[in-house]
Parts: sequence; structure tokens; C-alpha cells
Amino acid sequence: MSQYVTRKTPGDTAWFTCNRFGMFIHWGLYALPARHEWIKSREMITEEHYDLYFEHFNPDLYDAREWARQAKAAGMKYAVMTTKHHEGFCMFDSAFTDYKAPNTPAGRDLVREYVDAFRAEGLRVGFYYSLIDWHHPDFPIDMLHPRRDDADALAQNEGRDIKRYAEYMRNQVRELLTNYGKIDILWFDFSYSSSKGTGDKAWMKGKGKEDWEAEALLKMARELQPGIIIDNRTEIEQDLWTPEQYQPQEWIRHAETGELVTWEACQTLSGAWGYHRDEQTWKSPEMLIRMLVNTVSLGGNLLMNVGPTARGYLDARAEAALKVYADWMKVNSRSIYNCTMADQEFLSSLPRDCRFTQSSDGRRLYLHLYAYPFAHIQLNGLAGKVKYAQFLHDASEIKFTEGAVHHFSVGAAKAESLLVLEIPPVKPPVLVPVIELFLK
Ligand code: GLC
Repeated sequence: MSQYVTRKTPGDTAWFTCNRFGMFIHWGLYALPARHEWIKSREMITEEHYDLYFEHFNPDLYDAREWARQAKAAGMKYAVMTTKHHEGFCMFDSAFTDYKAPNTPAGRDLVREYVDAFRAEGLRVGFYYSLIDWHHPDFPIDMLHPRRDDADALAQNEGRDIKRYAEYMRNQVRELLTNYGKIDILWFDFSYSSSKGTGDKAWMKGKGKEDWEAEALLKMARELQPGIIIDNRTEIEQDLWTPEQYQPQEWIRHAETGELVTWEACQTLSGAWGYHRDEQTWKSPEMLIRMLVNTVSLGGNLLMNVGPTARGYLDARAEAALKVYADWMKVNSRSIYNCTMADQEFLSSLPRDCRFTQSSDGRRLYLHLYAYPFAHIQLNGLAGKVKYAQFLHDASEIKFTEGAVHHFSVGAAKAESLLVLEIPPVKPPVLVPVIELFLK
């Protein structure tokens, strides 16, 4: 068994930490301007102009089954899709607003198709739901709001009642957790109660758990879907720590108790979450694989994002990135699923430019080669511990010696604890080769 134990939380995280890899989907009206999902705030776009996106949202090529097939092929085991992002637009059919996909040319509930398609492919289904809402008339203007620079912003806040907005959220979350069967993850985003306005905007306040009435919201969610996994972004700690566009350097610990926690890094293929036509910082194939391996090597999950176009398909760059995962995972997923951080005794043996993961039953160690070395890999401390070794991608034997480097030119390089793998001179045709070590 793995030696690591994580902090107990109310949700069912057992399936989650076995599955390790999921697809984040950011899809909404912001796919039309195609220049960041925060565009309404960044460019302080008026309701009137933003309505153009509502009127023209016609994802005629949306085929959720196609997304689900690609996610599955990439080795992803679950997905989390935006049901509402900060713009306030609902991708689902809600009885509590007209600002929803069925009232656009899309003409239907887009969340339902996502749920059905992903479930049909055997993937677990999650919902992202934005706590922030730049459309709702009761959401008070603050420093992130598109109307923040209006001369009469303060006056516009008259009559905006966050209590009514909190109730609206409860109503919608109830719909989401009632009308779509079993939902595995609820991903709230996000709180900023410590933010304060400055200068003539000193009256502006960030928002957090009090504003969302998070306690009631969470209580309801737990009643409707007892085992559901919920993130911590309401400002009330739940199941999931969510570092964003940042790769932790060690297993995340609870701030007060120091316990290890369940964590999930969320990352983008390029630099935005929503479809961004002109964004150019697409991650390289090597980086994509390394981010997944690095995450699992520190006991975490990776939620990798796609931002579908307003036509409803994943653009060629996103498809190519998913293919990178598909090719690698097809033959290497055994070092990801049911794997976690290697036990401490092995970590000290880790050679340069490598990462370990270890199966959670403790019996196999996976050595990921980031830079392919010449001929020998020396693992100091592993002598006597390994029964058999092979490349994971093709199950071809890797021979090894123990106690010394057997090479004519290094007569004296004896070391009792040394295990030396003999690898072929040519790097096998996988982005990151993995050596599977069967432990005694
Ligand atoms: C952020 C952003 C957002 C994105 C999210 C994903 O907090 O506001 O656009 O949806 O992170 O983690």
C-alpha cells in the first residue's frame, strides 16, 4: 500500500484519486468574441453589445459525443463543464432565467447533451458553476464587474440585493443537481472577499462565503448528491484544493493541520480557458505529458482544459493536444491510473531528469525518463528491491545489474545499493518513455 494518507473530507474522493486525469470544458458566449472568457469584464462590454453574442450563438457543429470520444481517447476519466461562467449565461435550461442556451439560436439545453454523451463513454461528470455573475441584476457591481468604471456605478447598485442572487444560485444549483442524474463533481468559482476597492472606488467590496450564503448552498448540494466532490472556492473548505495554472512542487498540505489533501491542478492547453482565437502560447507535446506526470508524481490530479469554438467543435490545436495525450496514454496509462507519489524510500533513489510514480498497492514503481540518457540508469538504493523491469509502452525487458556498474571502463565503481538499468541507445518512439519496475 502507498504510505500516503490524505485528509478525510465529506465527498467520495476514492474514484477521483484513482482516475487522476480529467477534461475541463470552458464553453459559453465568450467563445464568440474569442478573446478570453473574461472579455466582458476586461473590455467593460455593455449588456447591449454582449447581447449580440447571445443573439448569434449558434453552435451548429456541437456534438458532445465527439468531445466525449476524444476525452476518453486522451485517457481522461472525468470532465467538468461550465454550466455558467462569470458572464452569467447559462448553458442549461434553467427555470430561473431567460439568459440561457435554449433562448439562443442553439435552442436547447447544451449541458444535457454533455452529460449524456460523457456518461455514455463511461466518464464521470462534473459541473463548474460560477459564483460570480456579470449579468444578474442583483449582483452588486464591484472591482471585477464590467460596469465598475461607470460614473454612476454606485447608483446602479441601489436595489441590487445579493440575498436574492444567493437564492438564485441555490435555485440553479438545485436544478443542476436534480435534473441530470448523478453528478460527481461540483466546481464553484470563485471568492475574493479580501479584495477592496481603492480611491473613489473604496466602496467596492469583493465577495465571499457570506455573500454566496455558502453554508446553505453547500448543505443543499450535499443533501441532493451526498458523495459529490466539491472544491474549496466558496471559501468554505470541502474536498478539493485547486491550484490554477500553477504546478505545485510538492504534495499540497492542509494549512492548519499539515495533512496531505486531495488536490487537482487545473491547466490550459494555451493561455486562456475559453476559446481564444489569437492566443499563441500552446503548450508543447512534451510539456503536456510532463505536466500530467509531474502532477501524479506529487499525488495530484490534472484537469486539462479545452475551450470549444462557438460553432461547437474543438479546434485543430486542441484536437492535436488531446491526440498527444491519446498516443502517450494508450501505452503508458498504467503509470497514471491508480498511481501516486512514490514512497519516501524510493524518492531518494530518483536519477536526474526523471520522475517516479508508484502504484497505490505499492508493488510497482514507474520511472519516467524526461531526458533520455545514454546506456545506463543508476538507481542508488534500489539494489535488492526489484524483481523485474520492462519498458511500459511495449513490455520489452530491461536488463539490470546490482551492486556495481559492469562496464570495462569503470572497474572500481562498486556500490552495494546500486541498481543499474541497461537501456537501448535509441529512445523508444514515445514522448516520455516509462520503465516499469516490479518490486519484490
Ligand atoms: C479563474 C477564472 C476563470 C476560470 C477558472 C478556472 O478563477 O476566473 O476564468 O474559469 O479560474 O480555474
